[in-house]
Amino acid sequence: MAEAGSFAEKVKQQADIVRVIGEYIRLKKTGQNFTGLCPFHQEKTPSFAVHPVRQIYHCFGCGAGGDVFKFVQEVDKCTFPEAVRTVAEKCGIPIPRPRERSPEERRENQQRTALVEMHREAATFFARQLHEGHEGKVAAGYLGDRGLDRAAITRFGLGFAPSSGDALLRHLKSKYPEKLLEVSGLLSRNEGGRFYDRFRRRIMFPIANEAGKIIAFGGRAMGDDQPKYLNSPETPIYSKSNVLYHLDRAKEAIRKEDFAILVEGYMDAIAVARAGFANVVASCGTSLADAQIKLLGRFTRRVVVNYDPDTAGQVATERSLTLLLEKEFDVRVLALPGGADPDKFLKEQGADAYRKLLAQAPPYLDYLIGRARQMDRSTAAGKVAALNFLMPYVQRLPNRLLRSEWATRIASELRVDEPVLREALRRAAAERRSEVKPKAELLAPVVKPAERQLIRMLIEAEGFREKLAGEIISNALHRGLETERILELLISKVSEQPDPAALAAALEERDRRLLFEVLFETSFEATWEAAESCLSVLRGRRVEEELTELQKQIETKVAPAELNRLLTRRLELQRMLSRR
Ligand code: UTP
Ligand code: MN
Repeated sequence: MAEAGSFAEKVKQQADIVRVIGEYIRLKKTGQNFTGLCPFHQEKTPSFAVHPVRQIYHCFGCGAGGDVFKFVQEVDKCTFPEAVRTVAEKCGIPIPRPRERSPEERRENQQRTALVEMHREAATFFARQLHEGHEGKVAAGYLGDRGLDRAAITRFGLGFAPSSGDALLRHLKSKYPEKLLEVSGLLSRNEGGRFYDRFRRRIMFPIANEAGKIIAFGGRAMGDDQPKYLNSPETPIYSKSNVLYHLDRAKEAIRKEDFAILVEGYMDAIAVARAGFANVVASCGTSLADAQIKLLGRFTRRVVVNYDPDTAGQVATERSLTLLLEKEFDVRVLALPGGADPDKFLKEQGADAYRKLLAQAPPYLDYLIGRARQMDRSTAAGKVAALNFLMPYVQRLPNRLLRSEWATRIASELRVDEPVLREALRRAAAERRSEVKPKAELLAPVVKPAERQLIRMLIEAEGFREKLAGEIISNALHRGLETERILELLISKVSEQPDPAALAAALEERDRRLLFEVLFETSFEATWEAAESCLSVLRGRRVEEELTELQKQIETKVAPAELNRLLTRRLELQRMLSRR
């Protein structure tokens, strides 16, 4: 975000988002906004809008949105500082020389640079070991047996870590200070405090970051040594959850094809890439991390999950699906027949067979329905179990239209009657601790026009924003609303100059979309009378809620004094409602 007083903020104030975006796509003025074809998803009719006053963009199709920097970051796939530079250059704003870093930052940077260099060197060393000595020949033979020829070994930078325990150590020791060896993740210490090689008698897979720099290794045991795969630990340059294996080589293809194949292991990724599918990445480890999904999302929102069909793979597939769904990815599942992982399948059936199955990979819902169908549904309990297996996935769909479509489809596919389905839906909803919404809103969360108006007013009604915020907060009128989090945020920031992009950054994806949608709406009347009428809608809702609660108590409480109090209050509330 552009911090107050920062260069980024200065650029943002001077830059014209319409001009900057206009350099990337053709924009047309429509009303107060500009529209064009969204660069972030395929479309034929424009659903991408730019708001010149608010200096934000929003795509009504795919939901992409943000400020000018976010746009450049996404379109150019670059970092925030790079985006700031780009925008500054485009708008002719002089770029100040980089500020002097603190000595500590400088040291950390130097350390990272040295570690990357060390990894490059280690990779070269491991690669050479495949041609050294008896052990190296055996390792090369093993790779050969697994179908990896010389070209493949070179292409993926594969190597071998000898069993001696100090081969790499001896190679690195003279070139790097002890401190650096310590944090590299390539060495361990024994009880006496002496270094030894972390990887011994293992086939080495270099792991590169998105920019193609080697930052870690995965080492596969040659025999039955455990663990089968040993990976680098977390280091200053490597964080497992931030890396997807093979992404550096896959990203161009992923962007071009607009989908990624997600596999589990190194060998799988290599096999798939060699078979001609360059857009493959591996999560390396069974389940997908949030950060990995975010990373992938910069290149595509469409994924074919092709995990092992074994039980662990199935569980991992389902867990990864859940995460991908929450992030609104379009997910398909490729479950290969015959219990084969991609590596094995390709070896046995070839690339054409794989291509065919890939093209037919069903949307994840069909895959899940298939799994539910395998359950015993001869009894009512069995049916409910099958439904409950499915419902959590459906409920995680952020898009309510899809959610309801799929609920209907599941009902017909599993041949359950509507009431049973609704019951299961309700139960699954109740089990989600974070969900507190009333049942009726499960399928269709409603954002009342009044809520939308209030959001706009809290941002734009210069004259009475603060007064309005005070009115809402003092009676907690926003509690339990679909827009609760948005309103809460706006209220907490009401004393500041509103900056939609900064506000959006503090919101969850779903809320951000809603906020932007509202900001792009046209009809809006910023008078206190209009505000009052919105507030009264919320107050009415409050009263109705209290009435419902009261009614419940009246039906259960028996103590006469208490009952009297409840009845009096009920009358009061009923009068309030009828007066409105
Ligand atoms: P698999 O056990 O399915 O390995 O683990 P694989 O890819 O089929 O390997 P081969 O064909 O037996 O050589 C899948 C992935 O899970 C991670 C690795 O990234 C591996 O590629 N893994 C597995 C580990 O990190 N540690 C382990 O002990 C096992
Ligand atoms: Mn496997």
